[in-house]
Amino acid sequence: MNKIDIVNQLLQDQSHTARQDQASVYAPTNIALSKYWGKRNQQLHLPMNSSVSLTLNQYGCDSTLSIIDSDQDIMLVNGDRIDTNTSFYKKASAFLDLFRFSSNYHFQLDTQSRIPIAAGLASSACGFAAIVKALDSLFAWQLPTTQLSILARLGSGSACRSLYNGFAVWHKGQRDDGMDSVAEAIDSDWPEFCMGAVLLSKKQKPISSRQGMQHTVDTSSLYAAWPEKAETDCRAMIKAIKEKHFSRLASLAENNALFMHATMQAAQPPVNYWLPESVALMQKVWRLRREGLAIYFTMDAGPNIKLLYLKHDHDTVSEHFTLALHNNLD
Ligand code: PMV
Repeated sequence: MNKIDIVNQLLQDQSHTARQDQASVYAPTNIALSKYWGKRNQQLHLPMNSSVSLTLNQYGCDSTLSIIDSDQDIMLVNGDRIDTNTSFYKKASAFLDLFRFSSNYHFQLDTQSRIPIAAGLASSACGFAAIVKALDSLFAWQLPTTQLSILARLGSGSACRSLYNGFAVWHKGQRDDGMDSVAEAIDSDWPEFCMGAVLLSKKQKPISSRQGMQHTVDTSSLYAAWPEKAETDCRAMIKAIKEKHFSRLASLAENNALFMHATMQAAQPPVNYWLPESVALMQKVWRLRREGLAIYFTMDAGPNIKLLYLKHDHDTVSEHFTLALHNNLD
């Protein structure tokens, strides 16, 4: 099974002709509370473990996808044309190859990002979710969201969770074709749960999450303990979300992130996304917690830290940290 087989299977009864010239959509980004780290199938982005995320509803990308008569795709990010030999262009164009039902057209993708690109704030997640939503609209498929999540996963694993607002779970699934590796919303209404991001660097990360996770799977002796740990954390987190148990959820999330980073540090050579400032920030969180503030953090494949806290502590948190963005599910 390769990506094109999956696309053909999902779209066999659907239109292969665009119903309009362009579609404009918005897709939010998401940050994992229980991380996806490691693939059991690299082609189809099938994960070793399930994951749980929070969508930052108002941070994401506004994308317009158009069918154009050209000999190559055109991509713009925040108005700037992207060079064809960048990894962004190559990844997006290779993904769009899956949807070139008639060989005589290309796509123009015009993305306005509301978040810094490649700064560990999951811009690829909203990017691919937006492309999939735009394709669904362009071809008038009206696919169920779980099926859109399968298509988004083929672009970037974590993108499958960006089809939902609020909390989401991506079930790892068992099947070789990944038809059961889908994301769905976790039913909850918890506007008090906040996530705030502290940006320490906007620089491109030293190693992509795609390469970093594979290298960890291949060389880290700590990785063996990860899939089961992540599965247990997902179950406990879903329960904590449903019960709105903040300290349980947030401490699980912090521990899950540190565990994931420990598997990376044990890779050979190590995969390290931490800056000295990241460590200083973690220590500040631990100190404030010892002093009584209910604050926790999570961290992805980049140096930035995302803080977890409750809405009533927002002002206090803002006094201690410069929040580049925050979300409270309003
Ligand atoms: O979907 P990718 O290839 O960008 O990988 C995402 C990896 C993490 O952000 C570290 C974890 C996650 O679940 O989002």
